[in-house]
Amino acid sequence: MAAERHPAAPPEVTCRGLSRTFYGRGGAVEAVRPLDLTFAAGETTALVGPSGCGKSTLLRLIAGLEAPTTGRVEIGGETPLAVRRRAGLAVGFQDPSLLPWRTVRGNVALALRLARQPADEEAVARLIGLVGLDGFAGSRPAALSGGMRQRAAIARCLVTRPGLLLLDEPFGAVDELTRQRLAQDLPRLWEARGTTTLFVTHSVTEAVMIADRVLVFSPRPADVVEDVTVDLPRPRRADIALSDAFRALTERVSAALSAGFAAAERPLAAE
Ligand SMILES: Nc1ncnc2c1ncn2[C@@H]1O[C@H](COP(=O)(O)OP(=O)(O)OP(=O)(O)O)[C@@H](O)[C@H]1O
Ligand SMILES: [Mg+2]
Repeated sequence: MAAERHPAAPPEVTCRGLSRTFYGRGGAVEAVRPLDLTFAAGETTALVGPSGCGKSTLLRLIAGLEAPTTGRVEIGGETPLAVRRRAGLAVGFQDPSLLPWRTVRGNVALALRLARQPADEEAVARLIGLVGLDGFAGSRPAALSGGMRQRAAIARCLVTRPGLLLLDEPFGAVDELTRQRLAQDLPRLWEARGTTTLFVTHSVTEAVMIADRVLVFSPRPADVVEDVTVDLPRPRRADIALSDAFRALTERVSAALSAGFAAAERPLAAE
């Protein structure tokens, strides 16, 4: 059996005065206005907010894939670039960029090699099973559905045991039942490892099911309109969604989303 590799302790993530403005022919677009945010080590946070409010840009800034216009990000006291260089963080985007000429197994295994970690066929096979792709390990991405590709990409993110996991709508193309199953199984995995996880979702139910904390953003340029602590016990089974506590939390998140929309619409209505 392959020796269990010990993951690094999960980091705290801080954003200080972090903003990003894009300048184009149409003028300046303030995608992220100066934000001060702290994400506790080992906590899972869901980011929800209207389309175009800057969630993906925020994740890309934290991942060091985008340079801030002002402010900075620190991941356990390090810069995103330094953390990314030693494979201390993994990013999963909505559009999974799997290598088309490699099989699912090959794509997941490559992540270990790129992170300069030892090959671990057992870990690769276990994760492929966990995301429900048993039987497809030898398939190439072209032979998979969009949702299956997304799941392969999630396995690829997890295999290197990053301290920080950044997922942008990771279940966007996955069917409802598989989504529910992943929403139950994946948090168990990253809880056991104590990963700091930030994920973007448009599903309020999924946010409450998975997260320790839900941050609700207003339309662009986004402000945090609500910071909801999800103090539901774990592990969370699907039937927790029927509880009063769960319903109260989803209602609070939905109300905050609506309030954000309403606040943003007021100046328009006044015109
Ligand atoms: N590379 C870029 N160049 C110019 N503008 C950009 C760029 N990336 C994002 N934007 C703009 O920044 C704003 C925020 O985009 P972002 O992708 O972060 O939103 P989002 O909250 O992730 O939306 P969605 O929920 O639809 O994915 C949008 O107005 C978008 O047009
Ligand atoms: Mg986005």
